Amino acid sequence: MTGAVDLNDLDMWALGVPYDEFARLRREAPVAWVDEAPPNSGFWSVHRYGDVVTASRDVATFSSARGISFEEPTDEDMAARRTIIDTDPPDHTKLRKIVSGSFSQRAIAVYQHFVEGLTEQVLDAGLTDGELDFVDAVAKEVPIRVLARIMGLPGAGLDQFIDLGDRLIANTDPDVTYVVWGRDDTDAFRRFPFRSPYGKQLWDLGRQIVADRLRAPGDDLLSTLLRAEVDGDRLSEVDLDNFFSILVIAGNETTRIAIAQGILAFCEHPEQWDRLRADPAMLGTAADEVLRWTCPTHFMRRTATADTELGGAAIRAGDKVVLWYVSGNRDESEFASPDSFDIGRAPNRHLSFGRGGPHLCLGVHLARLEVRVVLGALARRVERFELAGPPRRIRSNFTNGLRELPVRVHYAGRAPGGGT
Ligand code: HEM
Repeated sequence: MTGAVDLNDLDMWALGVPYDEFARLRREAPVAWVDEAPPNSGFWSVHRYGDVVTASRDVATFSSARGISFEEPTDEDMAARRTIIDTDPPDHTKLRKIVSGSFSQRAIAVYQHFVEGLTEQVLDAGLTDGELDFVDAVAKEVPIRVLARIMGLPGAGLDQFIDLGDRLIANTDPDVTYVVWGRDDTDAFRRFPFRSPYGKQLWDLGRQIVADRLRAPGDDLLSTLLRAEVDGDRLSEVDLDNFFSILVIAGNETTRIAIAQGILAFCEHPEQWDRLRADPAMLGTAADEVLRWTCPTHFMRRTATADTELGGAAIRAGDKVVLWYVSGNRDESEFASPDSFDIGRAPNRHLSFGRGGPHLCLGVHLARLEVRVVLGALARRVERFELAGPPRRIRSNFTNGLRELPVRVHYAGRAPGGGT
């Protein structure tokens, strides 16, 4: 057992990340067993940086094929819902090859100009002197539009993608979804992403767009998926449904969290905002420190394929193993003064995109670009951010999402753009 705090207590997570508890666990119980309520079977909870990287690297022993959340889907459920993120090599390697070129550092650099222009538009429209909800006015607007551009999604209806993606990821928050995982009977939705009714809606939306694209292919990512072949076969309808959903889900909410939680960090550390404004050359290290600090995805789960040992714990074949990036990002054996938010931190080998394994976030260069550009544009316009009310967190231990971030903006003006 882990001891004092129940890592499954989502009401606790709704109030904040239990950093102190993770610090204790790293010291006293680096890999600990956590019981779960039936039908779930419990999991190994991995808290130290080094153990998270070791397990991420060893995909033969720590498989993603049984899913990456706490849920324990059946083989049939998995077959209906499997995406690149819950596929092991060698199949994973084939799927990744289809999309890796579109997300390489070089391919993403092409979008810099677009992201800068979009960000300026969003700030012109949404940023004012005085109080506003930063999530609504700024953070939610950029990532989905960038994704839409890369994937070739129609501009109309993007709000629907944001809405469905949010409801899927926050499948444990009763304010966001009417079917709450862990509380309600979700059996009817077990074949859909996140075991959620909104997963079906996202698939349906994707199918309409795919049908349009089949009639008029282009050079966007969706057309790449439609042309792709694995072992000589085109992707099946189910594969397309799932590829579409993982890209929309993984690429939107995560980046929005980094941006919104990043501004919360600057509200709490105004001296770091002053530092960034004084020296825009710090944008690169600032973006990575924001990513380490905010850790948008708290964990990924693996399943042991054989009896093994990790961090002194004897893990049995079939056991669930949860890799807490959010704890590893504060591990004192990797980061000096891990509880200091320091925008000059270098090196900064954080775990927010995973580390060491083949599932390393596909969108790593895109997410970094977006965070850097948005921070840079804000630093040119805003003298200071202040918290104007309590931030509203999503009730989840999977995502570090904010539903609302009331801030008071001390607007400096619309300064001319600079390089990022
Ligand atoms: C700040 C933003 C982001 C964060 C924190 C993040 C985090 C992660 C994490 C932790 C993983 C799993 C790593 C592992 O299991 O080893 C992952 C995988 C993935 N991410 Fe991201 N992500 C972000 C942005 C994006 C964007 C913009 C996209 C673009 C579409 C994206 C697409 C994906 C995909 C497709 C995977 C699965 C990759 C695979 O299994 O090979 N992510 N991401």
